[in-house]
Amino acid sequence: MAFKPKKLPTHLAIIMDGNGRWAKRRGLPRNQGHKAGMAAVERVINYCLKYKIKYLTLFAFSTENWKRDKEEIDGIFDLVRNYIKDYRDSFVENNIKVDYIGNLKPFPEDLVSVLENIKKKTEKFDELTVVLALNYGGRDDIVRAVNSIINEGCKNITNETIINHLDTKNIPEPDIVVRTSGEQRVSNFMLYQMAYSEFYFPKIFWPDFNEKAFLKILKTYQKRDRRYGGIK
Ligand code: FPP
Repeated sequence: MAFKPKKLPTHLAIIMDGNGRWAKRRGLPRNQGHKAGMAAVERVINYCLKYKIKYLTLFAFSTENWKRDKEEIDGIFDLVRNYIKDYRDSFVENNIKVDYIGNLKPFPEDLVSVLENIKKKTEKFDELTVVLALNYGGRDDIVRAVNSIINEGCKNITNETIINHLDTKNIPEPDIVVRTSGEQRVSNFMLYQMAYSEFYFPKIFWPDFNEKAFLKILKTYQKRDRRYGGIK
């Protein structure tokens, strides 16, 4: 099937899975898998620019990932920190807005300030918005939204009230959620936001992600018939 530039997802969300297995197959430590996964992050951002995707969300660290060894967690934090520092100019040159979702409170202070600075520095850019999901959990997002609604003394809560209190309030719902590595579950990702998302579970491990795999996502999306509960 040919690629139709007109029917593109506005928001592509990716659960980047398979870094650990990629490393294990090569007899490498898990953090080498995350390092290779980081290179795939750089590639997917370039594909989004090339194929004009407006929003890309990357699930980089979940509320459940604290269960991993400290060494692995610190390694992931280092990758995020260094990536943002190294690519600061590139975000500006390419008109990329960098945003994040999730609760940054438990993160190291310097990492929080790197994230806050890049968010501020790129807030006016609009070619592509890259959303990093960090200490993000769909349930936690909903719980924090409900608490802020209560604290504001809001009555008569509607769907819009909830949407406007989630971390994603400025971001459209994902059109397609992709999880690499062949696992077929959502693992507490954007639970409220994915009510009408399409799903796609390619077998490829995240560090192997390439342009062919990216185009397969777009083609898969183009074959889907989205009806939102209606009839066509
Ligand atoms: C899942 O693979 C991957 C992670 C939990 C971390 C991924 C994080 C990065 C690649 C860094 C991202 C940084 C930015 C700036 C977006 P896994 O370890 O669960 O793999 P496995 O299931 O094969 O063990």
